[in-house]
Amino acid sequence: MIQDSALKVPVVAIDGPSGTGKGTVAARVAGRLGWHVLDSGALYRAFAYAARLKGVNPDDFQEVVDVDVDSQITFQSAAGEVRIMLAGEDVTDAVRSEEGGRAASVYAAIPAVRSILLARQRAARKLPGLVADGRDMGTVVFSDADAKIFLDASPKVRAERRYKQLKEKGFDVNLARLEKEIAERDRKDVTRAESPLIPAEGAFKVDTSHKSIDEVVEQVMVVVHTCLRKSTS
Ligand code: C5P
Repeated sequence: MIQDSALKVPVVAIDGPSGTGKGTVAARVAGRLGWHVLDSGALYRAFAYAARLKGVNPDDFQEVVDVDVDSQITFQSAAGEVRIMLAGEDVTDAVRSEEGGRAASVYAAIPAVRSILLARQRAARKLPGLVADGRDMGTVVFSDADAKIFLDASPKVRAERRYKQLKEKGFDVNLARLEKEIAERDRKDVTRAESPLIPAEGAFKVDTSHKSIDEVVEQVMVVVHTCLRKSTS
């Protein structure tokens, strides 16, 4: 089938490990463009939460497939914040915890889970455009994205950012333990066989270690505008 470029919904893919500012940057860039935003990590977190609630064994293919959680995950905007709902229940705090991230990375390494959530992610591609953040947005889910960005930062800075974020949300956290947990989650995400965390070919890389969110957003916006001009010319 020949794709009509006039009908193609534009996508900006923003990937990278946790603590790089991905989520905030994606939301700000989407706001500037007036586009939709997809937090794919929230889907993996909600899936893992639901699977654990049901006592699913991650090694049991049938149990994993039977979780059938996709249609039950919804996002609700409340007071400028996105709340994650699972079958009508607000599970935001539980899934946003570091434990929630760790559980997500276990289920995210399972090919069946990735394919269950793939259609859901692709369905978020709606006009006027989508800014998607995650680990494999530019490599797999939206490999035809108009602009691909890869955010990174030193492990120390990323752990400090996550520490601050979690403290602000009222979680009881320990910086040294957090650094170890993040390193372990990175290792799982980078070394898994299915959709590992790697920069997409041609991705524009930004090291956010010593940059403010504003600076990163400005830099990303320049890349996005350049790429969008190229895709429409
Ligand atoms: O981005 P966030 O920290 O919420 O993601 C939680 C976990 O979900 C990641 O550590 C990763 O294992 C998984 N994930 C993924 N692919 C994505 C988004 C998240 O594997 N596109």
